[in-house]
Amino acid sequence: MHILVTGGAGFIGSHTLIELYKAGHTAVVVDNLCNSNPLALQRVAEIIGVPAIPFHKVDIRDRAGLERVFAGHKFDACIHFAGLKAVGESVEKPWEYYENNIGGTLTLVDVMRRHGCKNIIFSSSATVYGDPDEIPITEQCPKGQCTNPYGWTKSMLEQVLMDTQKADPEWNVVLLRYFNPVGAHPSGRIGENPKGIPNNLMPYITQVAVGKRAELGVFGDDYPTPDGTGVRDYIHVVDLATAHVCALQAIVRRCGIGIYNIGTGHGYSVLDMVKAFVRVNGVEVPYSIKPRRVGDIATCYCNPAKAMAELGWEARHDIDDMVRDSWNWQRQNPEGY
Ligand code: NAD
Ligand code: UD1
Repeated sequence: MHILVTGGAGFIGSHTLIELYKAGHTAVVVDNLCNSNPLALQRVAEIIGVPAIPFHKVDIRDRAGLERVFAGHKFDACIHFAGLKAVGESVEKPWEYYENNIGGTLTLVDVMRRHGCKNIIFSSSATVYGDPDEIPITEQCPKGQCTNPYGWTKSMLEQVLMDTQKADPEWNVVLLRYFNPVGAHPSGRIGENPKGIPNNLMPYITQVAVGKRAELGVFGDDYPTPDGTGVRDYIHVVDLATAHVCALQAIVRRCGIGIYNIGTGHGYSVLDMVKAFVRVNGVEVPYSIKPRRVGDIATCYCNPAKAMAELGWEARHDIDDMVRDSWNWQRQNPEGY
């Protein structure tokens, strides 16, 4: 299939490009590079063994720019990663988040339908469940109250896309609710490249390990979890990438609307992650216990059985792979790209 990948220069998009090409698909990337580096695409091309990945530096809010891209291609589907994703920033700049993520997606969807491309795989998030009623989380669990505008953009866009499909059944909409992506391509050539101080756990750990930060703050050790620290469903980004390739099958089967949890089904605590990182990589990660972070929940992991049953997808990488590959990327690229 010929795929439009929005946000393809980013962390998850760049890894997904590799899996798409490995599976025999072709892709065109649209990205405004607001949170990424074109070097990522160059390295993806090197890993795949092609001269270059077709790339347009276009903002998805730019209708004319998208029109130009669509004029030159007949896309079978769009994998839509483009969006702003920093939770804290979204609290400070809600308008910018709604305008970029929702405004951008509305424009994208309109241009897609005008060009007869009515298949989309959307990057959603476990955050749409809010503080879940039951663990492990299945797709049957109701959506909840989000604690920040970023989360609401995901929740609202799910609704926008589902309503679009209901009104026009020619659409196929696959909503992938990612749990906590970590890791990197095993080559260490591409990986997560946060700007400034990392918000998420794994890039913070790797930056401490590489000496860029003095110590990790562990946000709370009094949660009702086995060791008191927060429990999450960390998933290797290569597994997450293959989930998108598998999700194309749902589109081929004309799924209408498909909603899938994309996680491993295992919950690991903050200290589990730190200990695995130290054990596997043989490096020190000093840490100290800090107060809880506002908006955090105690435990979040999923039941990924639906993705297995309907998409034939399952995570293949374990916690050791995740911490090894995260470190391999950071070690080789201490300053990122
Ligand atoms: P990322 O920031 O690395 O990639 C997003 C890409 O989108 C970047 O390259 C950025 O430049 C681009 N972009 C942003 N706004 C754009 C616009 N208006 N026009 C064109 N390009 C634009 O983030 P990621 O971690 O790869 O996440 C990809 C998607 O998955 C995002 O939608 C994110 O919200 C979602 N998601 C990520 C996580 C996570 O932990 N990384 C978890 C759940 C969901
Ligand atoms: C966060 C976002 C969520 C988003 C997800 C993936 C919040 C409240 N939620 O989820 O919306 O979808 O990232 O991008 O920000 N931790 C530390 N020290 C740190 C960093 C994190 O102890 O320096 C802990 C957290 O308290 C949590 C765990 O590590 O228990 C994971 O944190 P993080 O990587 O930020 O992901 P989430 O909070 O699950």
